Amino acid sequence: MRIIKARDYQDMSQKGAAVIAAQIIMKPDCVLGLATGSTPVGIYEQLAKGYRSGALDFSGISTVNLDEYCGLDPRDRQSYYYFMQEHLFRYVNIRQNAVYVPDGSNPDEKEACEKHETIIRALGGLDLQLLGLGRNGHIGFNEPGPVFEKETHRVALTESTIQANARFFDSPSQVPTHAYTMGIGTIFKAKKILVAVSGEDKAQAAAQAFRGPVTPEVPASILQFHPDVTVIGDEAALSGISDL
Ligand code: F6R
Repeated sequence: MRIIKARDYQDMSQKGAAVIAAQIIMKPDCVLGLATGSTPVGIYEQLAKGYRSGALDFSGISTVNLDEYCGLDPRDRQSYYYFMQEHLFRYVNIRQNAVYVPDGSNPDEKEACEKHETIIRALGGLDLQLLGLGRNGHIGFNEPGPVFEKETHRVALTESTIQANARFFDSPSQVPTHAYTMGIGTIFKAKKILVAVSGEDKAQAAAQAFRGPVTPEVPASILQFHPDVTVIGDEAALSGISDL
């Protein structure tokens, strides 16, 4: 695991985008695993800038998102599908039929989850998975628990995650209670993983995940065993790690 310290959110975003840009340049038909949330917004802005300047071409790229709220239609403004359109896809020349987000509108849990796994397999697997880090150490919506879930599955969101995500909704009661998420096994099969982490409120989770014991109680801690993980964190987020 490489841990790269960035000065601040802007610097983290530029460095994170540079890693993804390198992947796109090295393999123009690569499969990118993407995340939503506040952390990657700056990275997506930089990638859109790269497209506008002519440095990046997304026409051969496929993307697969980590997760989606259950019960939301892709056209819903709160859905992660919508988020991706708003923050990245509409600004770059990606093929709309090459972007995949779990189908939160499908109430058939088994079908929705199997379909997501089948898509990833059919694409030949994820070349690079971008992750944010939850304040409780979650990745995707893999919440702390007794086991590492392997494949895409339906999950009940914890109260802390609902509260953390309430900022995107009018009130916490509107936050969906369940989501479909790639499993830890799905994420782990990515050839490369890039974790972006920013802000003091992530410092404890980052220290536990990247320096603490590997345990499903801190889902991101499993990344310590992956052969190709790059963490890019700003100084505040990495402030709990003393040996950097
Ligand atoms: C989003 C996702 C989540 C977030 C995490 C951090 O697709 O899977 O695991 O990455 O909750 O969210 P932010 O970046 O909003 O702090």
